[in-house]
Amino acid sequence: MVNIAIVGTGYVGLVTGACFAEVGHRVVCVDNNRDKVKLLQGGGIPIYEPGLEDLVKRNVAEGRLQFTDSIQEGVDQSDVIFIAVPTPPQADGSTDLSFVEKVAREISSVMTSYKIIVDKSTVPVRTGEKVAETIKRYNEHGVDFDVASNPEFLREGCAVADLMNPDRVVVGVSSPRPVTTLKAIYEPFDAPIIVTDISSSELIKHACNSFLALKISYINAIAAICEASGADVDDVAHGMGLDQRIGRAFLDAGIGYGGSCFPKDVSAFIHIADQLGYDFSLLKEVARINRHQVERFLKRIHDTLWIVKDKTIAVLGLAFKPNTDDMRLAPSLEIIRSLLEDGAKIRAYDPKAMDNARAILPDLEYCSDPYAAATGAEALVVCTEWPEFRSLDLDRLRSVMTQPVVLDGRNIFNPQDMTARGFIYYGVGRKPQHER
Ligand code: UDX
Ligand code: UDX
Repeated sequence: MVNIAIVGTGYVGLVTGACFAEVGHRVVCVDNNRDKVKLLQGGGIPIYEPGLEDLVKRNVAEGRLQFTDSIQEGVDQSDVIFIAVPTPPQADGSTDLSFVEKVAREISSVMTSYKIIVDKSTVPVRTGEKVAETIKRYNEHGVDFDVASNPEFLREGCAVADLMNPDRVVVGVSSPRPVTTLKAIYEPFDAPIIVTDISSSELIKHACNSFLALKISYINAIAAICEASGADVDDVAHGMGLDQRIGRAFLDAGIGYGGSCFPKDVSAFIHIADQLGYDFSLLKEVARINRHQVERFLKRIHDTLWIVKDKTIAVLGLAFKPNTDDMRLAPSLEIIRSLLEDGAKIRAYDPKAMDNARAILPDLEYCSDPYAAATGAEALVVCTEWPEFRSLDLDRLRSVMTQPVVLDGRNIFNPQDMTARGFIYYGVGRKPQHER
């Protein structure tokens, strides 16, 4: 059992804290947002993530998980302190490391015995060195410490499962001293633990996320060629994916990647590479293809509807991916904003993200289910591939729409089936059936 503090109780910090507690560690989650801490202390959960609520409740009840807004309390009770605060992008694509720096200062000024400070936030390579310098400078009690890097590989929507069953755990250190304790934290998870230097560990995270983003942009580029040539991107992805050197995962064509990680990590990696003297033009193209994908989809909507002004359009799915309520950089945002600017009326439905969406998109009509959203619509646009959309009663859907036009930004429906049911159907990278 290791005593652990996690500073930053967001998507990453809360899931990590709950999973560490679940395997038997004693965890204090620290956050400077008092309302969030109060909510958690009162048994509430600030985010939707499958399985998280049960995990938090059980571990709080069993005394292994607690919440505080006091860094001092967290540091006093722990041997290892994880930093999991946001590292948002700045206007030039570089990473805003001010939260990481502030938390490093706060930790160092209150620690009175040897601590291991682990950066879990996604940061550019060589941040660990800066964190160590900062802690040394503000170390009021002159105590011993080690800094380590331990990137997260959690996908929102399945973060609990990803953490409980990791493919691997990456730990970056600058001395052997913290390794035994860090391994003890992860030993119950039964996954390979890779120990590297801090810079390599930081790079692994940026390299992984950028590579996954690259896979998505690659298949989206192929989708554009499929549309122009009459080929089918799903068949192409299937044929590619069976090659074990490639793999089928992350080859789903659509309206591109969003969320709090890929867009920011790709920009940050381009920026830090540039600072280190390498022009990562490959990743610039990855980001460009991703932006272009939304533009291509919007063009398809315009080509199909001709005039958008005053038309009612149903949007199914708002979150940046299924099984989350997270709207951060969701592709749906740009699509909806553009359609609203062009005078469309939007009726929207998302199983979990509507509360968050209301705060940023107040001008939509939020509906109680997909059929209500589709009622009176002249087109239906799919922005998120929620599993429940795949089993909709398509005949019912068609019967409530004014025009049976479906623009499927996530390729969730079968084109032949849609056409057979009388829909005018467009996917991404799929030749429209009625043009065949
Ligand atoms: C995380 C990582 O930290 C980020 O680097 C990674 O790239 C994506 O995932 P995430 O958990 O998604 O970020 O962020 P968020 O849900 O915004 O939570 C961060 C929490 O930190 C918030 O609860 C916020 O109140 C808290 N915080 C922020 C602090 O406790 N102290 C601060 O100084 C700043
Ligand atoms: C990502 C990483 O996968 C995870 O390891 C962690 O480092 C945090 O960042 P996350 O952003 O939560 O996770 O979700 P992910 O499943 O990776 O999807 C990201 C975006 O890519 C979503 O908008 C999704 O719809 C899109 N996507 C994913 C595609 O467009 N096609 C695909 O084939 C896969």
